[in-house]
Amino acid sequence: MARGTDGRRCRDPQHVMLAPGAWIGILGGGQLGRMLAMAAAELGFRIHIYAPEPDQPAFSVAERHTIAAYDDIAQLEVFARSVAVVTIEFENVPALALEQLARFTLVRPSATALATAQDRILEKTMARSVGVDTPAFAEVTAETLQSAVQRVGTPSVLKTRRFGYDGKGQAKIRQPADAVAAFDSLKQQPCILEAFISFEREVSVVASRGVDGSFTAFDVIENEHQNHILATSTVPARIPDHLADEAIEATRRIGDALAYTGVFAVEYFVTGAGKLLFNEVAPRVHNSGHWTIEGAESSQFHQHIRAVAGWPAGSTQRRAPRVVMTNLIGDDVLSVPDIVASKGKSLHLYGKAEARAGRKMGHVTQLFRDADQP
Ligand SMILES: Nc1ncnc2c1ncn2[C@@H]1O[C@H](COP(=O)(O)OP(=O)(O)O)[C@@H](O)[C@H]1O
Ligand SMILES: [Mg+2]
Repeated sequence: MARGTDGRRCRDPQHVMLAPGAWIGILGGGQLGRMLAMAAAELGFRIHIYAPEPDQPAFSVAERHTIAAYDDIAQLEVFARSVAVVTIEFENVPALALEQLARFTLVRPSATALATAQDRILEKTMARSVGVDTPAFAEVTAETLQSAVQRVGTPSVLKTRRFGYDGKGQAKIRQPADAVAAFDSLKQQPCILEAFISFEREVSVVASRGVDGSFTAFDVIENEHQNHILATSTVPARIPDHLADEAIEATRRIGDALAYTGVFAVEYFVTGAGKLLFNEVAPRVHNSGHWTIEGAESSQFHQHIRAVAGWPAGSTQRRAPRVVMTNLIGDDVLSVPDIVASKGKSLHLYGKAEARAGRKMGHVTQLFRDADQP
């Protein structure tokens, strides 16, 4: 048998392309896991979901599921041994769970990449270390609260370092006198204080990085939030080409810094002065990438499955001059009959029974032939 570099690479499990029919494990059973499972099925893979809660959206489209806690060492081992690779759809999985799983199977992305992306201070420090600007920030504990407010100034935003999502775990500080109440409202958890950016727009880049370090990105996405929850994503973002190139290049550097495998998303603010500032990285497929299901040649879900399976990335080519994705949040699902009755709206529902306020129930994607069409 040939023993050249190529031969060695082929026997290295890190570089093996999984064959169709292989089992892929996903930690987390929400809508992202559901859409990953559907894409995996299209590529011939079999899915095993691991989640602590019963009745998860992904269970109904996955061949197997395990309901167990993320710190259940025995169940994690059984799960790891049942799949060729494990990935995540939920970023608050303890990094320790990934370390445990990695003793028995491939884990993509790695526990270290996840640990950095989970912590707002670590991720912003990482971004700066590769030359990507961020809002001014400072670490906050009970001891450093006042000095942080002095350094960063007001208005600013206090956020818990970990576990925030959809604007949860955040408090605005309008003037220094608000600081103590804001910190108390976050139960004095370890925090980051960030300068408040009166941005012109918010954009994100959804990218994929292969096991060999190869990088692909979709077009830069423009995002509008309502009540801190993503409401719509539109491509292309209304920013100059040089800024779009800068955002994609910054995202590539962040993927390299994390030695990341799979799809990830980076959120940025664009200031009135045309500056790009890193906000956060999501170590998973992202709500702002849902438009790619209809709007791009290979969706973010296919890209992620391809990457974690050791396959080459698909084409990120956009299929229309403009694509708009609208989230269906809470009672928005009441409009489903109208959406179904209208042409040109692709409906995705996540199978959640109860439409609680602020809950992401589904989304709608529209492709426009004319970039300026309303
Ligand atoms: N430093 C900031 N300045 C201005 N707006 C902010 C700032 N940080 C967050 N926001 C707003 O709050 C939203 C949610 O904050 P983010 O840090 O992305 O947390 P998460 O998405 O995890 O809840 C952002 O998309 C943005 O609209
Ligand atoms: Mg965010």
